[in-house]
Amino acid sequence: MGAAFKETKLPADAPKSHRALAWVDDRFPLSKLWNDQWGRYYAPKNFNIWYLFGSLAMLILVMQIVTGIFLTMHYKPDANLAFGSVEYIMREVPWGWLVRYMHSTGASAFFIVVYLHMTRGLLYGSYRKPRELIWLFGFAIFLCLMAEAFFGYLLPWGQMSYWGAQVIVNLFSAIPFIGQDLSLWIRGDYVVSDATLNRFFAFHVIAIPLVLLGLVAAHLIALHEVGSNNPDGIEVKDNLGPDGHGVDAIPSHPYYTTKDLFGVSMFLLIFSSIVFFAPEMGGYFLEYNNFLPADSLKTPPHIAPTWYFTPFYSVLRATTSDFMWVVMAGLAAYVVFIWLRSRLSFKTKATVTVIAILAEIGMLPQVLDAKFWGVVLFGSAVVILALLPWLDHSPAKSIRYRPSWHKTVYAVFFLAFLTLGYLGTQLPTPTYTLVAQACTLLYFSFFLLMPWWSTMGRFKPVPTRVTFTPH
Ligand code: HEM
Repeated sequence: MGAAFKETKLPADAPKSHRALAWVDDRFPLSKLWNDQWGRYYAPKNFNIWYLFGSLAMLILVMQIVTGIFLTMHYKPDANLAFGSVEYIMREVPWGWLVRYMHSTGASAFFIVVYLHMTRGLLYGSYRKPRELIWLFGFAIFLCLMAEAFFGYLLPWGQMSYWGAQVIVNLFSAIPFIGQDLSLWIRGDYVVSDATLNRFFAFHVIAIPLVLLGLVAAHLIALHEVGSNNPDGIEVKDNLGPDGHGVDAIPSHPYYTTKDLFGVSMFLLIFSSIVFFAPEMGGYFLEYNNFLPADSLKTPPHIAPTWYFTPFYSVLRATTSDFMWVVMAGLAAYVVFIWLRSRLSFKTKATVTVIAILAEIGMLPQVLDAKFWGVVLFGSAVVILALLPWLDHSPAKSIRYRPSWHKTVYAVFFLAFLTLGYLGTQLPTPTYTLVAQACTLLYFSFFLLMPWWSTMGRFKPVPTRVTFTPH
């Protein structure tokens, strides 16, 4: 039997709003939820602008869902009607152009904000113990976002929607034995068609958003369980005051509510300038080819994914059969390096060696072609992000207290990533391919060699209290 129900007693002159809240709180933990998750969630007092992107990502998520609902009211998921229905939204539906441009610009804004949010994690070591699960939930969110953007991009049924989907689904056919059947199963037809459009629509409007919302909830619950990291990378919970909260922590409300509102205003300023003045963003946010209806008989000369996928797409294109020899040499050198320099157990080293030998055999041109390995490297370039908490062994979490040359390593990594992104938007030339190959090697070396380089050099002393200067 549960405890007897006890109604909160308020003074007779208590305002109606207080009475209403008490009535709800007696039946549902509304105030408790608000206080636990935000109102009395104590966060380090030294957050800088890098800490605005989490709340901005939430804002965009809500905006995408709301604009998406209105688009769905007029959009037709039918290969014969889809393109026309988007034109109808743009020209005939009152404010339809605004809703559509907010949604299409929102997709790119989402990736900009999430990439910046992840960069913050990288700079301050926010993925390190005890925040590994926050990072893993974040990584799963990133995968879902990519799926969501990919499925959504087919819906306008333009030339780039159609051929982009064709190219990406065809990647699955590079998988040995099951590849052909798998891509047929994904498409539901021998080419991208009405059946593909219908299933992509279902995934875009309901399946992925549901998973995304669940993951964001898990991400925040995990964050509020262990508490936020901060630009100094130290634990504010290690220094508690008499009230039981960190001496360097402040309640999120009103302090971070106001800070986040400032971020939201700045974001909306930039976002609305793009929506109103440059929604195509020079072909990067909405590609010009997508203003032509899909034509299964006319392949565009240059098929490129939207900008947020291009760093990974570049890795795929850089994997030529010549480059595979470099990959094979790199893998062999890495295994030798592990034997010489790693503190892993003998058993683990032996397992790694066996896997590497099998991979080397598979990489021989007679066994599996470069196209397959391109898909493997493409996937690995994404998945390797999930391993960061276990690759970084640096004694200091935040870049602030790492040796200065670590900053150069990060700069080279970001430059390589941006270069890959740019090259992925361009037609490949022999020089571009060579540059993309060099950047691919830099990208993977950053992660694979991290267990070693992250411990090297002279670290600065990490303070016990956060550094904070009120303005
Ligand atoms: C829909 C997408 C996302 C939303 C709505 C979201 C939301 C948030 C919010 C509100 C915070 C707390 C405020 C802040 O620290 O900025 C946060 C923290 C964090 N997020 Fe995300 N996030 C998203 C995606 C990601 C992704 C893709 C990753 C990484 C792969 C990630 C990793 C983290 C980490 C490590 C923290 C803790 C940061 C710290 O305490 O220093 N998040 N997230």
